[in-house]
This record gives sequence, C-alpha cells and structure tokens, in this order.
Amino acid sequence: MTGFAEYQPGAARQSADVLVRPAVDADLTTCAELIVTRTGGPVDKRRSRLEADLQNPDRYTAVAEINGDVVGYGAVIRHQISPADPPTTAPDGYYLIGLIVSTDWRRHGIGDLLTQDRMCWTAERADEIYTFVNLSNAPILDLTSRFGFTEVTRDFTFPNAPLEPGTCVLLRADLNR
Ligand SMILES: CC(C)(COP(=O)(O)OP(=O)(O)OC[C@H]1O[C@@H](n2cnc3c(N)ncnc32)[C@H](O)[C@@H]1OP(=O)(O)O)[C@@H](O)C(=O)NCCC(=O)NCCS
Repeated sequence: MTGFAEYQPGAARQSADVLVRPAVDADLTTCAELIVTRTGGPVDKRRSRLEADLQNPDRYTAVAEINGDVVGYGAVIRHQISPADPPTTAPDGYYLIGLIVSTDWRRHGIGDLLTQDRMCWTAERADEIYTFVNLSNAPILDLTSRFGFTEVTRDFTFPNAPLEPGTCVLLRADLNR
C-alpha cells in the first residue's frame, strides 16, 4: 500500500466551503490521526511531534476545516544542513511537507488551498520553496507542477527521511515576495 490517491487526471472537482487556517492545539489529534493513516505508528507520538512544531517559529502547520471538522493538514519546515549531513543532502530552505486530505474530501480543491496558504506563509520569509515527492505519487506531482515546482534532482537525501534512492524527486519553486 502506497497511501497515495488513485491517479485520476481530469476528474471533476467538487465544491466545498473550506476554511484554511493555521493549526491550533485542538486540531492536533485529528491531524495526527490523518497522518498515521499513511505512515502508521501511534497517534499520540505523532501528536507530540505536532505539538512541538506549533512552538517552533521555523515551522508552520495549516489545517483545512469544513463545518468545524478538520479534513486536511499540511506543514512547512525550515531545513538547515548540519556539518554531519552527507554531501547529497537537500539544500537549506523551507520545505512543504506532509500534505494530506481526508479520503472523503479529496478532489474539492483542499490540497490546492493548503498549498497556496503554506506558500504564502513561506513567501513572507524566503524567495523560494522546496518539496520532495515520491515519483509514483502522480496526484501530488500534478498538484505541485501547477504551483510552479520544477525538478532539481533525484539524487538527494534528507535528514530523518528514509528515502529509497531514486524513488523521490526534489522540487523547487520561486515565490513572489
Ligand atoms: C494529494 C492530495 C493531498 C490531493 O488533495 P486534494 O484535496 O484531493 O487535491 P485538490 O482537489 O486540491 O486537487 C488539486 C490538483 O491536484 C491534482 N490531483 C489531486 N488529486 C488527484 C488525483 N487523484 N488524480 C489526479 N490528479 C490529482 C489535480 O491537478 C488537481 O487539480 P484539478 O482538480 O484541477 O484536476 C490527496 O490526494 C491526498 O491526501 N493523498 C494522500 C497523501 C499524499 O499523497 N500526500 C502528498 C505527499 S506528502
């Protein structure tokens, strides 16, 4: 199981009344539950990591809410290479990570809204943004290309992300400041 959405290019987008906003503590259990549907592992451990992210000024967590329920999550982290990192380590910068939309609410434009919001947050701090994506995940490859992301390399590593060599692509986009 990949945890990726089935690739359905050209499928009709449905409308929904979505509010995208910075996450608060009360959102984090739902965010953690969403994340572990893909990653597995205990919800409480994941929640603790999200709690720490909220306290970190170099990180941003966004949620999408419909009728008061959190249905999507995405984050930005600031990555800085440390001297112990290998030479293949991805460049310093802000990275979009962890986008996920609840299966019931996919194809309602929520992934787009969470991406736009996170790029706006980053544009106040930098003039470029990165992300990395599994090459088998066609939906997110399409989504990111619509936001101007282009390939940097497939030969890279990222701290604490066990990426199988050759399976992921590092992407970069300019930000309008
Ligand atoms: C990828 C994901 C976040 C997209 O969320 P979403 O809210 O359904 O996406 P949107 O409705 O905003 O779609 C935005 C664009 O992305 C692309 N896209 C999204 N889902 C797609 C799919 N299943 N097939 C093909 N293209 C897709 C399309 O270009 C779409 O634009 P369109 O509606 O004009 O065709 C969602 O499918 C998901 O949670 N997947 C599992 C987790 C994951 O893979 N996350 C990304 C890596 S961390």
